[in-house]
Amino acid sequence: VITKVKARQILDSRGIPTVEVDLYTNKSMFRASVPSGNSTGMYEAVELRDGDKGVYLGNGVAKAVKNINEKISEALIGMDPTLQSQIDHAMIDLDKTEKKGELGANAILAVSIAACKAGAAEKEVPLYKHIADLSGKTNPMLPVPAFTVISGGKHAGNNLAIQEIMILPIGASRFEEALRMGSETYHHLKAVITEKCGAHNCNVGEDGGFAPNVSSFREALDLVKEAISRTGYNDKIKIALDVAATNFCIGKRYDLDFQSPQKSGQNFKSAEDLIELYQELCAEYPVVSIEDPFDKEDWEHIKYISSLGICQVVGDDLLMSNPKRIERAITETACNALLLKVNQVGTVTEVIEVVKQAKEAHWGVVTSHRCGETVDSFIADLSVGLAVGQIKAGAPCRGERLEKYNQLLRIEEELGDQAVYAGEDWRQ
Ligand code: PGA
Ligand code: ZN
Repeated sequence: VITKVKARQILDSRGIPTVEVDLYTNKSMFRASVPSGNSTGMYEAVELRDGDKGVYLGNGVAKAVKNINEKISEALIGMDPTLQSQIDHAMIDLDKTEKKGELGANAILAVSIAACKAGAAEKEVPLYKHIADLSGKTNPMLPVPAFTVISGGKHAGNNLAIQEIMILPIGASRFEEALRMGSETYHHLKAVITEKCGAHNCNVGEDGGFAPNVSSFREALDLVKEAISRTGYNDKIKIALDVAATNFCIGKRYDLDFQSPQKSGQNFKSAEDLIELYQELCAEYPVVSIEDPFDKEDWEHIKYISSLGICQVVGDDLLMSNPKRIERAITETACNALLLKVNQVGTVTEVIEVVKQAKEAHWGVVTSHRCGETVDSFIADLSVGLAVGQIKAGAPCRGERLEKYNQLLRIEEELGDQAVYAGEDWRQ
C-alpha cells in the first residue's frame, strides 16, 4: 500500500520550476516529475504556478507541492498502487474542477505517474507491461522516434518560422538501429551546417535541434536532405514537420518572418499559399507528417489538407490533448493523428482513454515530450505499453531528451526476441 507521498520543487531543462514527487509503498520509493511546455491553451489541464513575481519570476510551484504534501497525500495513503484508476479518480474528485486547476495538473500528474511506477513494482512487472495491462492491450511495441534535428519558431532564436524539423527512421529494423540512424544523421547535419553556414549556426534550440540562421523552409530542409544523403540511409529516413503555425498566425495570415524583428510583417502567406507550399514540400522532400500546419482555430484548412492525403496531419495546438477537441476533429475529419502531451491531460487513466479514442478513429498517435523536460522517462514506457507507434522526444542529444530514447533501448533489450519495432507501421 501507499505509505507516504512527498513532493518538492525541482528545475526543468529550461531552469524553470516543476514538480517532483517521491511516493513510498511497503516495497520501495518511486519518483516522478512532470514536464512543461511553451504553448499552453485554454482547453488543457491547468499547470498551477505561484505567480509571485519576486520568486522564480512567478514560475514557482510551491502551491502544487503543498497540495501534494497535504491534501493528496492524505487522500492516497493506504491505497493499493496497482489500482491506477481509483488513485486517479480520488485526485480528480478531490480537485473538483474540470481542468484540475484547484490542486494543479502538475501536482496530480506527478503523483499519478509515481503511482503507476509503484503499481508496476507491486506486480513485479516492467512499467510498460503494467501500462499495457491497464489499457487492456497486451502487445507492447517500440515506437518510431521522431528526432528533432532543426529547431525554429518559439524553440530557437533564429529566423525560421517552422518550429521543428524531425527525422523518422521508419526503415530501421529495430529501435536500436533507429537511434543509431538518428544520431548519425544528427552528426552529419552538424557537419553540413558547419560547411554551409559556419560553426556558429550549430547552436541548438530548446529540445536539442540545431538552430541555423536560415529563414526558409526549403533552406532548412535542404540541409537535412543533404545530411540524410551523407548517411546513405536515404529512403529509410522520412521527415516530419511541426509548423506550430498558431504562433505566427496574425488575423487570417501567416507571418513567415515573425522571428525577425526587422522583417516581420513583410512576408505574409495566406492559408492557400501554405497549402501550396506543403504540397510542394511533400513532393520535393520525404515529408510524411505535418503537425499544426495552420492556426489552432483554422479547422477549415486543416480539414482540407487532411483530405488531400499527402501526409499524416498531426493535431497538437489544435487538440491540446483534450477529448472534446479530439471528438470534434474526428467528427469533422480535421486531422488524422494526435500529439499526446500527458501533462495536458493530467492522469495516466485519462491518457489511456484519450489514446483509445484516437486509435478507435484509426488515427496515428505521437507520444510527446515538452520543451521543458526532466530526466523522467515515463513517456518511453507509456509509448511501448500503449503501442502508439510514434514518439517525439527531441534531438538525439541532451540528457533530458536522451533519457527517453535510452529507456527505449533498455526496453528493447529486455524484450529480446519479443521486441517489435513499429517501423513501416508507424501510423497504425
Ligand atoms: P511545447 O510544444 O514547446 O509547448 O512543449 C512542443 C510542440 O509544439 O510539439
Ligand atoms: Zn507541436
